[in-house]
Amino acid sequence: TQTYRIAVLPGDGIGPEVTAEALKVLRAVGERHGLSFEVREGLVGGAAYDATGDPLPPETLELARWADAILFGAVGGDKWDHLPLEKRPERGILGLRKELDLFANLRPVVTWEPLLHTSPLRPEILEGGVDILIVRELTGGLYFGQPKGRDGDRTIDTCVYTDAEIRRVLHVALQAARRRRGRVVSVDKANVMATSRRWRELAEEVAREYPDVQLSHMYVDNCAMQLIRNPRQFDVIVTENTFGDILTDEASTLAGSIGLLPSASLGSGRAGLYEPIHGTAPDIAGKGVANPLAAILCVEMLLRYSLDQPGAADAVQAAVAAALRDGYRTPDIREEGTRLVSTAEMGDAVVARLDSPAPR
Ligand code: NAD
Ligand code: IPM
Ligand code: MN
Repeated sequence: TQTYRIAVLPGDGIGPEVTAEALKVLRAVGERHGLSFEVREGLVGGAAYDATGDPLPPETLELARWADAILFGAVGGDKWDHLPLEKRPERGILGLRKELDLFANLRPVVTWEPLLHTSPLRPEILEGGVDILIVRELTGGLYFGQPKGRDGDRTIDTCVYTDAEIRRVLHVALQAARRRRGRVVSVDKANVMATSRRWRELAEEVAREYPDVQLSHMYVDNCAMQLIRNPRQFDVIVTENTFGDILTDEASTLAGSIGLLPSASLGSGRAGLYEPIHGTAPDIAGKGVANPLAAILCVEMLLRYSLDQPGAADAVQAAVAAALRDGYRTPDIREEGTRLVSTAEMGDAVVARLDSPAPR
């Protein structure tokens, strides 16, 4: 049988805490579904900087290239905030995305029935369930545009997109919509930004190849408001790098906590990098209280997108639903009458439910 190569890059802060639980779930689901893994761990971010002086050492990049899929934790922390941009832990993840050309970041935002009352939003706004796929462009825009940096009293960030970069991520979103409810909202700032204006033109052009998908456009400021006012209007959202970063943290409040949102960073091949959307959570790191479900749901996405194991992926999803239904709660999603558990206990609760078929 095939052995899948898995690279694990835990990183900093709560990264190692939540990644340990994700790995626990991966191994357990693998046993049940007859999957065999070769798991190798590497250094990234602040941990890598401390050990080698480089947040993305060559060995780590090599490990990432070797893997069929990468499980990533989180990077960053106050300790390294004084460093120049190219040495900061965040360069670790940015470098991986760029080097591996992982241009499409899929960030599903779903509500879980048992958590409808946990969201800061009124339950009637979420009633019936929210199921949005935010497709964030991941290797262009302000994050990577040159020139960048300080030039005397002028400091510059550059927003650049080539037509090809815009087209390829639009294709990802339009194809995803076909397998969902057939609607894409392209989010931009075309009333102000040149890159957005071009983005909107290309969205129209590319969407002509998808007559079965309904495309509309929305300005990003309005989208930020609509996500909270009426989230159920959305199916797929596609947007550029910076807007996608901001909108997804906002959208995590629909699910109930940022500790619930996984993501898949994909390129043109099967291999992918799976990263929770949250960071290192310095305020709770080292306490064993972080919510591992975002990291665990990364395993679901990894099984689905890189290993093509939908049965195993469904089992992880069902186990998470069952753990929530049975009242297991980390502090970020705590409510009256539920059972407060640690990071590791939540991981165990999911593993114990891997055989339970259940709806979300
Ligand atoms: P953050 O996502 O780390 O934390 C924001 C808030 O959400 C905090 O209150 C935190 O406790 C909470 N939170 C986050 N994840 C949680 C979880 N799994 N369970 C429970 N609560 C959780 O964002 P921040 O505080 O702005 O950034 C902290 C550091 O993380 C920075 O250095 C930043 O650059 C880095 N960061 C890294 C990534 C990444 O590696 N992918 C993503 C975002 C931020
Ligand atoms: C994310 C993070 C990263 C980003 C940082 C850590 C570079 O916020 O994955 O959402 O901005 O992309
Ligand atoms: Mn972010």
